Amino acid sequence: MYKTLLTELEKGTLIITVNRPDKMNALNKDVIKELGIVFDEVYSNSEIKSVIITGAGEKAFVAGADISEFLSLDAEGGAALAREGQANVFDKIENCPKPIVAAVNGFSLGGGCELAMACHFRVAGSNAKFGQPEVNLGLIPGYGGTQRLTRLVGKGKAMEMIMSADMVGADDAKTLGLVNHVFAPEELLAKTKEILQKIQSKAPIAVAQVIACINDASNGSHHGFENEIERFGACFATEDMKEGVNSFLEKRKPVFKGK
Ligand code: COA
Repeated sequence: MYKTLLTELEKGTLIITVNRPDKMNALNKDVIKELGIVFDEVYSNSEIKSVIITGAGEKAFVAGADISEFLSLDAEGGAALAREGQANVFDKIENCPKPIVAAVNGFSLGGGCELAMACHFRVAGSNAKFGQPEVNLGLIPGYGGTQRLTRLVGKGKAMEMIMSADMVGADDAKTLGLVNHVFAPEELLAKTKEILQKIQSKAPIAVAQVIACINDASNGSHHGFENEIERFGACFATEDMKEGVNSFLEKRKPVFKGK
């Protein structure tokens, strides 16, 4: 169905694998287009409850935007590439009401690091390496990297990482807050699925509201507190809130319907 992606739905989790292993899964036009399409499907298909993004092969998650497409671009073309990519893929991922986790299984560079950072959180194989090496090419990150890396690791570290183009390994990425967990490479996918199964057992509307509220905080919204109040209130109108509270009072496990 897709030229550059593999997709598999397993127990409500859609596993999206960027599949250009001979090019380190670099994000060319086709990958960006197909990621936009698959995320439209994630929004609209009620069978999809959560998403994992990973890369094919053992070396790379995604080693960046496809550098071979850059020489044909002028200033306007470069801006359009970044603007369209941010709107069609990266922002769509960040704002998705269903949890999206990057399972980073190797090099996560440039647009690859930005793809991982657009996800709601990241887990890494111990072989993962993160970096924003654009200055090596006379460029800067264009898929949100200057913004999201600063939010995740703080100004000083983001400045140094992006200005030096240095890579950080998985353990350092965990210390920095860039990834939540580091697993053995052969366990990475199974452990990521486990984390998402746990989240899928919670009330889906509440989880969606959590994503929106935390994005407000992370994006420096001036309305984060007020939005939290409204979204907290909205949860009281759900069947799942009644089920959650009743199940606690009745000392049984809740069965949520996403209603
Ligand atoms: N865009 C296009 N092609 C890429 C790519 C990218 N971002 N990253 C890797 N590739 C291609 C290489 O050109 C090579 O293709 P070839 O076999 O046709 O020559 C293939 O993937 C394998 O990469 P190679 O460099 O031989 O592997 P390596 O193990 O020696 O090094 C990396 C791996 C990731 C360190 C190295 O490929 C690299 O630095 N990539 C670019 C990272 C980058 O600058 N990303 C930001 C882009 S804005």
